[in-house]
Amino acid sequence: MKNIPNKIALIVFAVSLSLLLAASLKAEDQKVTPEPGMPEKIPAERLKEIVLEPGASCINPSCHAGMEKKKYLHAIGIDGMKCDRCHEIITQGRHDFKKIPPETVTLCSQCHRADTIPPEGLKKSPPKVISEDAENKPHKPFAEGKCTACHDAHSSDNYKHLKLPYPEGVYASYKPDTYGLCLDCHKDLEKKLAEPRTLSLTMFRNGNVNLHYRHVNKTKGRTCKVCHSPHGLKDPLLLNETFLFGKRMLTVDFEKTETGGQCATSCHRLAKYDRYKPEFNFIKSDPLPGENATVKELEQSRKDDIEREKEKQNKLNTEKQ
Ligand code: HEC
Ligand code: HEC
Ligand code: HEC
Ligand code: HEC
Ligand code: HEC
Repeated sequence: MKNIPNKIALIVFAVSLSLLLAASLKAEDQKVTPEPGMPEKIPAERLKEIVLEPGASCINPSCHAGMEKKKYLHAIGIDGMKCDRCHEIITQGRHDFKKIPPETVTLCSQCHRADTIPPEGLKKSPPKVISEDAENKPHKPFAEGKCTACHDAHSSDNYKHLKLPYPEGVYASYKPDTYGLCLDCHKDLEKKLAEPRTLSLTMFRNGNVNLHYRHVNKTKGRTCKVCHSPHGLKDPLLLNETFLFGKRMLTVDFEKTETGGQCATSCHRLAKYDRYKPEFNFIKSDPLPGENATVKELEQSRKDDIEREKEKQNKLNTEKQ
């Protein structure tokens, strides 16, 4: 808001908005949910009548004021968050915008797709995360193009504009809400990370030793990103081949077997796990509460796993029909 015409525009805009607001307070129907900083209780139909003055800022004390007051701002214009890069006007000069579908990928592709040249006037170059890699079997919400299932398109107090908490580094002290983002969809996650021993909560186990618990649930716990990519990879379990440790790229040499897997990393020597015939690893680690499972219990867990896998496939098949 540096020059006079802008100030006048803003005043005209604010005045027309308050008139509308006053008029609309009687109309109790068709409420829209205001976001922080937005004038309250303007019915959707009324919103469309607001006149947009050329040059007026969308972020000002009476409109969308809260949007920029977050730790991280999606800075996609020289002057900040240019609304019209994503919000297309339907009626010229009016506050009447096209609805954005939950699949925002086309929108984000303008700038975040490997093979497109982003529009001019950006402050920084956008990281490229979308590509047409036929081999990719990405994470389902990413594959479906629902970027805003995880990211806030405007601004956020969380790292990488994430809607919910997710640790920034490769270590995090464990608390249930540390992984709020993943927990939002993976409802069984809290249980998966709470039990040191399990025969059912995860396939990442050595006998009944829960290896998710073992890696994640401690003061210096390893975060999901050490092993999984949030967008997905060739691997259906989203397992990484590398991860960033400070400025160094470290490798993870993971191999899956019929009944478990093995992993050689810079974190520890080759380690193996098997769900039904537990492996012995020479790795120094904290003692674990609870007892090892008996041979009988392990055999039963194999049957239960097969049953669960069948149920999952059946569910997927009925979803497809
Ligand atoms: C990078 C694209 C992008 C930019 C830039 C952008 N928006 Fe949005 N906006 C979206 C998307 C996508 C949605 C739909 C909700 C969702 O999927 O999270 C949305 C929804 C909204 C909503 C509906 C309420 C809500 O938060 O769901 C408002 C109001 C809004 N935007 C205002 C603005 C304003 C004001 C600006 C400029 C300061 C702006 N937007 C800039 C992408 C963007
Ligand atoms: C007009 C170009 C443009 C569009 C459209 C756009 N972005 Fe961005 N995005 C950028 C730029 C430039 C940056 C780097 C500047 C920054 O970090 O804010 C960025 C950064 C990001 C970051 C990472 C920020 C960080 O901390 O490294 C995320 C996450 C992101 N965008 C998600 C999205 C999503 C989701 C959409 C679609 C709803 C989208 N972007 C649409 C230009 C764009
Ligand atoms: C399941 C949640 C999820 C979905 C869906 C998702 N992302 Fe992300 N995205 C993340 C997480 C978590 C990170 C942070 C990764 C890290 O650095 O640990 C991230 C990082 C990013 C970054 C920053 C990359 C960098 O190099 O800094 C961009 C840009 C981005 N996402 C864009 C997108 C776009 C575009 C889509 C939709 C096609 C999308 N994301 C869908 C979870 C998601
Ligand atoms: C918006 C919802 C959503 C969010 C948020 C989300 N996921 Fe997922 N995730 C899914 C869906 C849906 C699947 C596919 C599950 C299936 O096919 O049974 C999936 C599958 C997976 C898989 C593959 C194994 C499997 O069960 O199929 C892993 C690993 C995974 N997610 C990890 C994560 C991590 C780590 C996070 C946090 C960064 C996260 N997810 C956040 C929805 C989500
Ligand atoms: C030390 C590496 C490692 C870490 C850290 C890790 N995972 Fe995993 N995860 C795996 C492996 C390996 C598998 C595959 C197990 C198998 O099928 O043999 C897996 C499987 C999964 C699955 C599929 C269902 C299951 O449990 O078998 C989900 C969902 C998942 N992980 C989510 C997460 C989330 C969320 C985090 C962070 C809180 C996380 N993982 C941290 C290695 C890891």
